Amino acid sequence: VRMILIGPPGAGKGTQAPRLKEKFNCCHLATGDMLRSQVAKKTPLGREAKKIMDAGGLVSDDIVIGMIQEELDNNKECKGGFILDGFPRTVPQAEGLDKMLRDRKKSLQHAIELQIDDALLVSRITGRLVHPASGRSYHTIFSPPKKAMTDDVTGEPLVQRSDDNAEALKKRLVTYHKQTSPVVGYYKQTGIWKPLDAAQEPNQVWKSLLAIVDNDK
Ligand code: AP5
Ligand code: ZN
Repeated sequence: VRMILIGPPGAGKGTQAPRLKEKFNCCHLATGDMLRSQVAKKTPLGREAKKIMDAGGLVSDDIVIGMIQEELDNNKECKGGFILDGFPRTVPQAEGLDKMLRDRKKSLQHAIELQIDDALLVSRITGRLVHPASGRSYHTIFSPPKKAMTDDVTGEPLVQRSDDNAEALKKRLVTYHKQTSPVVGYYKQTGIWKPLDAAQEPNQVWKSLLAIVDNDK
């Protein structure tokens, strides 16, 4: 399958994408996760990106397009298709993706918009806990780990993302509405756009996703 998940911070992209990856045996590419791994390694890009991410802005289009291109070409899991999470989030990124796929004689099948009111996102974001190495996420209330602050799979500690506070979230939402909403419009014109109610509980969101993907492969 070749699809993208579009939605505001906390919509559930990172919660659903690993399940899709598992089901369809493809790669899950999350530009946010890739950038956070650069931040953790303290690379020059990571240092630059951290400032932008904590301020709720966007890293440059060229950088994230380059990261996706590199993965699509070299990550073996992507041979089975891909789930893009958090990319594209500007119209130039969407155009970059189209060109990339055209050059590789491929096309996108689904652009799924996870729709949810901003008001519901604060509690999702401020309660999120993540396992940095795998990108797995939990929620203190909605999806707690078996043992407090501990990853279920590895037993390693969970942390809070440095941009997961109410103040940074406000900026991330402004950025989303200004720069990423036009991407939704971009895909509406192509006919592969599909809306999904992301305010439902996670298993219901999963069912809705499968209904969309299974209905037209
Ligand atoms: P990124 O990591 O992509 O962050 P984001 O878009 O803000 O999205 P989130 O990861 O916050 O939300 P999510 O939808 O994955 O939610 P999740 O499933 O975890 O990007 C971070 C930053 O990197 C950006 O701000 C930007 O600076 C930079 N960046 C990244 N990509 C870029 C790009 N392409 N171009 C330029 N810059 C880029 O869920 C959240 C919480 O809610 C979890 O705790 C979860 O357990 C819980 N939850 C999930 N679903 C439900 C549900 N249905 N009901 C109840 N709780 C739920
Ligand atoms: Zn995410």
